[in-house]
Amino acid sequence: MLRFGSVKMNNGADRQNMDIQLLLEAIYLKYGYDFRRYAAASLKRRILRNLAFSGCRSVRELQNRVLCDQACFESLLLDLSINVTDMFRDPLFYKAVRDHVIPNLKDLPLIKVWHAGCASGEEVYSMAILFLEEGLGQKTEVYATDFNEKILIAAGEGMYAAAKMKDYTLNYLLAGGKSSFKDYFTPRHPHAVVCASLKKNIRFAHHNLVSDGSFGEMNLILCRNVMIYFNRDLQNRVFHLFRDSLSDAGYLCLGDKESLRYSTCSKDFDDVVPKEKIYRKIKTLPV
Ligand SMILES: C[S@@+](CC[C@H](N)C(=O)[O-])C[C@H]1O[C@@H](n2cnc3c(N)ncnc32)[C@H](O)[C@@H]1O
Repeated sequence: MLRFGSVKMNNGADRQNMDIQLLLEAIYLKYGYDFRRYAAASLKRRILRNLAFSGCRSVRELQNRVLCDQACFESLLLDLSINVTDMFRDPLFYKAVRDHVIPNLKDLPLIKVWHAGCASGEEVYSMAILFLEEGLGQKTEVYATDFNEKILIAAGEGMYAAAKMKDYTLNYLLAGGKSSFKDYFTPRHPHAVVCASLKKNIRFAHHNLVSDGSFGEMNLILCRNVMIYFNRDLQNRVFHLFRDSLSDAGYLCLGDKESLRYSTCSKDFDDVVPKEKIYRKIKTLPV
């Protein structure tokens, strides 16, 4: 459970923390989205930010509005889910995948990949480019999931601001890109749209890491910059979910500020590239 402070309400901040807990309970009961085990401090910041723009005077008033007005809930959901992402975000991570993960996947007949918390798809298409350049595009099966339906639609479209392409090209080159980045897109002013050939093996689907189950025998799971928003208890739940969704010797990739080293399934994984948070599930020996 989220703990926002003392149970006794001594001051306005305590009351506000209590109202935030009630808001989260109300969202869960009405809409089924469960934010109760997200990291409290950042959740509070985002709720107060939404409050400031909503015209409501208090969290209690925001709660009433969210319960009666679907659009108001969707605006809050967008603020709570944080969809910031980039193509080849943290280029050296992609370089490490190219150098230390791909060579060990090459001999598999089929490579199953799960992007959990894929946001608007930039990470997914970055990996698709990487697989294509390593000659594995034809034998990858990619599942890209998120709990935010609106962002999943954007991910499927793969349409990005052309103004960002210069930065993305630089990231791509730093990540060891082997071709011409712009060739993966079709210009549609003021956007650039991901080519259909890159989208072919990708399935975008709804999946909530808080409540949904495991996802089959994956060889590679990427869940980057998602668990940073979860509390320790929820992080452990998700690490177990990933462990159970990975094949033997499958890889797990986390974000820069995330680690599984303090989790309850730390012993089930080896480090592959510690700096880039790339881990590998230890093979289970037959008993
Ligand atoms: C900051 S983005 C990360 C995007 C991408 N992985 C990256 O590193 O660039 C976090 C994503 O996690 C998703 N997310 C947050 N909570 C989730 C949950 N419980 N289940 C599934 N996705 C979730 C958000 O909707 C958002 O799209």
